[in-house]
Amino acid sequence: MNLLITGALGHIGSYYLTHIHKIKNINKIYVIDKIDEKVLNLINLKIKKKIYFFNYDLSKEKISIPKKINIDVLIHLASITDAAASINNKKEVYRNNLNCFKNVLNFCKIRNVKLIHISSTSVYGSQSLYVDENCKELKPQSPYAYVKIKEEKILKKTKEKFKFISLRFGTIVGPSSGMRFHTAVNKFCMQAYINVPLHVWKTALEQFRPYLSLKDAFKTLNFIIKNKIFDREIYNIVSENMTVKDIIKKINRHKKTSVNLVNEKIMNQLSYKVNSSKIRKRGLALNSKISKDIADTFKLLNKRI
Ligand SMILES: NC(=O)c1ccc[n+]([C@@H]2O[C@H](COP(=O)([O-])OP(=O)(O)OC[C@H]3O[C@@H](n4cnc5c(N)ncnc54)[C@H](O)[C@@H]3O)[C@@H](O)[C@H]2O)c1
Repeated sequence: MNLLITGALGHIGSYYLTHIHKIKNINKIYVIDKIDEKVLNLINLKIKKKIYFFNYDLSKEKISIPKKINIDVLIHLASITDAAASINNKKEVYRNNLNCFKNVLNFCKIRNVKLIHISSTSVYGSQSLYVDENCKELKPQSPYAYVKIKEEKILKKTKEKFKFISLRFGTIVGPSSGMRFHTAVNKFCMQAYINVPLHVWKTALEQFRPYLSLKDAFKTLNFIIKNKIFDREIYNIVSENMTVKDIIKKINRHKKTSVNLVNEKIMNQLSYKVNSSKIRKRGLALNSKISKDIADTFKLLNKRI
């Protein structure tokens, strides 16, 4: 089986590439990303399998993999991904993310490629309940999340024979060579490590949010491919729902830290937990512990800084 991964130099993609040799039956791996400051991610990547790398901007250039190369599955990770920053960068987030998505969709349709589309639990936004995929009232709080909903809707409207799955990933936790530190837990680990008080949104201490361990993200992608679950459905993918207070407790085990409560434009949300029993019922055990990812992140920081 041949795989194409877009945005593979990022946080999730670099973890996936580092561990891809553990997956049976993957023949050739093609990767598209835009090398800018991420050139170091590419250099630091420790991969045991050969990858074929294409360097271009997916929002501007059509996917140009020659027809003689058969691609079975495409994992689409290329996006601008900082949800909070997307509020001040709305136009660019819409342009980049939608153009990349449409480019990928077009390629998959023409070449009959199965698509793994990565959405986000941030589509739920302000909720007071334990939400699942049937939630009718999505309340996205950022342009980033709006675009994810738009992509999901475009996919739903495609012709029946087009095969895809949409995965609403919780906020990723855990280290990788392309790791970023703008998402909650990773940012807190970094702030604790460099002895800066944790910048916590004023409303967030007691609020539940969904988190996904990188290990479970890896497991999920393999599970989908191995079991060929391209049923045009949306699935929540979450390891644990936790409050910021829970997270701070876990961080304090590695580094004693203080908290600075701050205001942020997208913070006025209610607490919500995301239910992932739809995918669990299909046999996928999402059982990695966020506390282990936090420990692994400190291990990495201790090694590198
Ligand atoms: N990290 C999370 O917490 C999280 C949570 C839910 C969903 N997701 C989704 O998972 C996917 C991957 O996330 P990530 O955390 O690895 O993101 P990341 O920001 O670490 O990586 C994204 C990659 O996409 C590439 N990219 C962006 N625009 C591009 C373009 N125009 N052309 C070519 N490459 C481009 C970037 O260079 C980068 O390497 C994204 O769709 C993201 O929305 C992430």
